[in-house]
Amino acid sequence: MSTTTPQHSLFDLNGRVIVVTGATGVLAGSAARYLAAQGARVVFLGRDQAKLDRALADTKGLPGETAGFSCDVLDRAGLERVRDAVVARWGRVDALVNAAGGNQPGAVITPDKTFLDLDLSAYRQVLGLNLDGTVVPSLVFAQAFAAQKRGNIVNFSSMAATQAITRVVGYSNAKAAVDNFTRWLAVEFAHKFGAGCRVNAVAPGFFVADQNRRLLLNEDGTPTARGQSVLTKTPFKRFGETAELHGALHFLLSDASAFVTGTVIPVDGGFSCYTGV
Ligand SMILES: NC(=O)c1ccc[n+]([C@@H]2O[C@H](COP(=O)([O-])OP(=O)(O)OC[C@H]3O[C@@H](n4cnc5c(N)ncnc54)[C@H](OP(=O)(O)O)[C@@H]3O)[C@@H](O)[C@H]2O)c1
Repeated sequence: MSTTTPQHSLFDLNGRVIVVTGATGVLAGSAARYLAAQGARVVFLGRDQAKLDRALADTKGLPGETAGFSCDVLDRAGLERVRDAVVARWGRVDALVNAAGGNQPGAVITPDKTFLDLDLSAYRQVLGLNLDGTVVPSLVFAQAFAAQKRGNIVNFSSMAATQAITRVVGYSNAKAAVDNFTRWLAVEFAHKFGAGCRVNAVAPGFFVADQNRRLLLNEDGTPTARGQSVLTKTPFKRFGETAELHGALHFLLSDASAFVTGTVIPVDGGFSCYTGV
């Protein structure tokens, strides 16, 4: 890239074909809308057709084209059909955002339980959704990236990847593995497919979303005891706003980050750099 490249083109996402898993959810839904507002061609993936219809309706009037596909991120054949449909429509895939993920009650060790109570079936499901749900779409879309010698993956990590966050054992293990996979695949892509293929991740701090709202906030909007302990360890003393993830995603998806691969960017109000002391 020339040093005289105009700055606006570094961040230009106009016409980029970007597939977003979990795009019917809070964080990825907001990000997918933002990308469409930047003129990107955004493919919304989720399992629930009604949620997809609502998410797509919210993009009406935005400059970018959008498409929605109902697909489970663990279903390789279904993802291959989506990839082929996207390539048939737009000729290529520029990027994959692996945002589908989450936790479930059975995989959580609540204060009245111990590790001995771990529900292995729930644990494996959480590990499967967050880790395999990142690996399988990467595997499927990597076929397009390898052919194009160009492609970009952004994974969703978490604060739970690098520090012990009480209760969430399966989710933490999975997100730690997502960090490792991000680095591993970044090196593998560069060696085998060239410097046009990159892999990075964002690690959101605590954002209030559907799956953690009741954990973080009381009905009157005040923080729960757990929410308060998160705020105490967050130097900014507040939860994140969904739009505050857009900048890091935009950077990683654009040519502004052309020499950046294998990184995990925390977007966390300082949570990850603060010991609490
Ligand atoms: N919220 C936070 O504070 C926070 C913090 C750190 C990291 N994260 C991570 O950020 C990502 C988004 O979180 P969020 O809070 O926005 O979650 P969310 O609102 O619960 O959205 C997650 C989406 O994933 C989709 N999904 C779940 N299982 C799926 C499957 N098997 N196949 C395809 N799609 C599936 C769901 O869509 P359907 O029901 O339509 O399938 C859902 O809309 C997750 O990876 C999460 O772990 C969140």
